Amino acid sequence: MSQEDKKKRVAQAAIEYVQTGTVIGVGTGSTANYFIDALAQIKHRIDGAVASSEATAQRLKSHGITVLDLNGVDSVSIYVDGADEANRHRQLIKGGGGALTREKIVAAVAKEFVCIVDGSKIVDILGRFPLPIEVVPMARSYVARELRALGGNPYWREGFVTDNGNVVLDIHNLDILEPVKMESEINQIAGVVTNGLFARRPADILLIGTDEGVKTLR
Ligand code: A5P
Repeated sequence: MSQEDKKKRVAQAAIEYVQTGTVIGVGTGSTANYFIDALAQIKHRIDGAVASSEATAQRLKSHGITVLDLNGVDSVSIYVDGADEANRHRQLIKGGGGALTREKIVAAVAKEFVCIVDGSKIVDILGRFPLPIEVVPMARSYVARELRALGGNPYWREGFVTDNGNVVLDIHNLDILEPVKMESEINQIAGVVTNGLFARRPADILLIGTDEGVKTLR
């Protein structure tokens, strides 16, 4: 089965977790896009969706799905999103698409985080995928030096601006043996808006698309 087929199947499997009459959170990326396409088939069942990026908001609207402002919403039942890497503890690296800050906010609000990945995203140790960090533009060089001191190799994603008007550093060569500790440590650096580690709030349910079908990790 192709990687795209695995993404489609895992996205379809997440539809089972959508609760009727609630607001749901929707992530960003190619796997999340397949989820949005599947969600369109049952859009009458939900009260609306909160988007984790402008791109996702556009795709939701193009399917006639109501997009709500998070500030006007009391609760979000589930958040469905992809990831760039996931380990067996359901801890993630996200932000390959640069939407990490809004993704982390919607994941924090949601009662349950359902993460949808194809099997190629599963690793033993997080860090093979460069860790994205959203940074206030004036702090870019300073944050890069601090990350170098932590053993990483930072690259500026030149020309890319986040939905929040910030820049992204991608940190290569990090062996993330203690994801919770590293997530907190990087958050302490002045100028860091968000880092792409989702370890303090991991996924609650990880759906993995494989050749043998969709596997569920809770
Ligand atoms: C977006 O900022 C990311 O966190 C995505 O969730 C991640 O890049 C996964 O994208 P794909 O589903 O396209 O691999």
